[in-house]
Amino acid sequence: MDITRLPSWQQLESLAPQMRARHLRELFAGDPRRGLRYSLELPEFLFDYSKNLVDDEVFVKLLQLARDTGLEDWRTDLFSGAPINRTEGRPVLHPALRGGLPNPVSLDGAPVQDLVETELGRLKEFVNLLHNGAVTGYTGRRITDVVNLGVGGSHLGPEMVIEALRAHRSDEVRVHFVSNVDGAQLADVLARLDVETTLFAVSSKTFTTAETMTNARSALRWLGDLAPRTQLLRQHFVAVTASPEKAQAFGIDPGRVFRFWDWVGGRFSLWSAIGLPIAIALGFERFRELLDGAASMDRHFREAPLEENAPVLMALLSVWYCTFMGYPAHAILPYEQALHRLPAYLQQAEMESNGKSTTRAGEEAGYATGPLIWGMLGINGQHAFYQYLHQSPEVVPADFIGSVTPGHELEGHHEILLANMFAQSQALMNGVDREQVKAELASKGLSEKEIEQLAPYKVHRGSRPSNSILLRQLNPRSLGALIALYEHKIFTQGVVLQIYSFDQWGVELGKGLAAALQPQLESGELRSQDASTARLIDYYQRVRNG
Ligand code: F6P
Repeated sequence: MDITRLPSWQQLESLAPQMRARHLRELFAGDPRRGLRYSLELPEFLFDYSKNLVDDEVFVKLLQLARDTGLEDWRTDLFSGAPINRTEGRPVLHPALRGGLPNPVSLDGAPVQDLVETELGRLKEFVNLLHNGAVTGYTGRRITDVVNLGVGGSHLGPEMVIEALRAHRSDEVRVHFVSNVDGAQLADVLARLDVETTLFAVSSKTFTTAETMTNARSALRWLGDLAPRTQLLRQHFVAVTASPEKAQAFGIDPGRVFRFWDWVGGRFSLWSAIGLPIAIALGFERFRELLDGAASMDRHFREAPLEENAPVLMALLSVWYCTFMGYPAHAILPYEQALHRLPAYLQQAEMESNGKSTTRAGEEAGYATGPLIWGMLGINGQHAFYQYLHQSPEVVPADFIGSVTPGHELEGHHEILLANMFAQSQALMNGVDREQVKAELASKGLSEKEIEQLAPYKVHRGSRPSNSILLRQLNPRSLGALIALYEHKIFTQGVVLQIYSFDQWGVELGKGLAAALQPQLESGELRSQDASTARLIDYYQRVRNG
């Protein structure tokens, strides 16, 4: 299907320039009920999408595009285990990890839900043993620290969730993360730990990722030689992987290999055994609540009509901006300290999924398929890059994310925080026009000449769109729902824009080249390198070897 020939697509193309010429102020002035009409109240949060450059006509066409591109059928296929990850010949069943499937699904004769529950049961048992002090190191002392060795999807989700739910953390066993092959990170973490009481969780779907395996080998060396290697591996290592045979070949006790499956994408895997660090840090019950929250969003995504479906609306707005309006970036701005790792997590989730230019038909897309995702804590961003959001010629749509209930008891802070969140989205929406600026400067007693000189710099064009997601409270359940909201948004965008969202061929090229370059860096023996790379290796060799 050439979607660019669909009437809905073409109508959206002609609506985009008209909408760019309008102002959000005007859209609000024309409809006093806009805030109510363009918002959804779900059990865990309010989703306010009224500050977007859209009107009913645009929404009708976007929803039509979703229907024309078969979103409803794709959604059914997702939840029924059809092999929708066609370039890898696999289904995409992360909702099964949290009980989010409407009907039982079996793969190769095995009921998926049974596999999931069995593995969750093993995880729970291990976490309980760990918390009870029954997991010991080679000298018999209880394990007090777990280091997760993993990168990308085997790191970002668990770390983000643990940070987000710090308030629920049990300190029985401390969790640390090492993702970087830069030995500085591992060395830094190990310097604070005791070999006798440290356990390493090698988290890798493939169990081949060079960064993770290098860290795992260094961790084993760090444990020393006071006990046989087989014993160190048995007592100080667990694995979380979709390749259990590789973990066993590495020497990890099969009883301590927690598995997930190739139908779980790395960036969608925090609900699987990859969530082991979450269950350790927060307790298994909290992990379950997280899964339940995500399952409630699965239900909403499956059952709500498209026009009242939060992930669908978010996705269509993103398609509208990125593909039709020509806004190539999207900012994630949490107003909740605990969500400080959310932008990095969503960066992988969305950009590794939809940062692609080949359509499902194997052709060059010829249109933008997904925005650059970036961001940081909103309140810190205000003093860093918001200048760009307010006055750069580029328009960057944004998601503001906050929570009604503070995660602390300090007086006065939360109102200041949320006042900033609401004010920033308001400022981006309304801006300040020249007349307002002039009136303000005149009220301060500036002369006519001074006003003329200063006014152009103080004008904010405004009409910069944003969503606001206001959680009742940040807790395991609402966080689960929030993450699943974005997951289904990403899926919907991929479907509408004809992208295979669940592969990631684009990360392979660099991995292969790095593997080929590494021996050349070590030996200094250059083999058919381009002039720039040769220059870098030469400089490295000269400095390194004195
Ligand atoms: O960087 C690509 C990638 O394959 C991600 O998709 C994945 O989450 C990450 O590497 C880690 O892979 P693994 O879990 O197999 O070590």
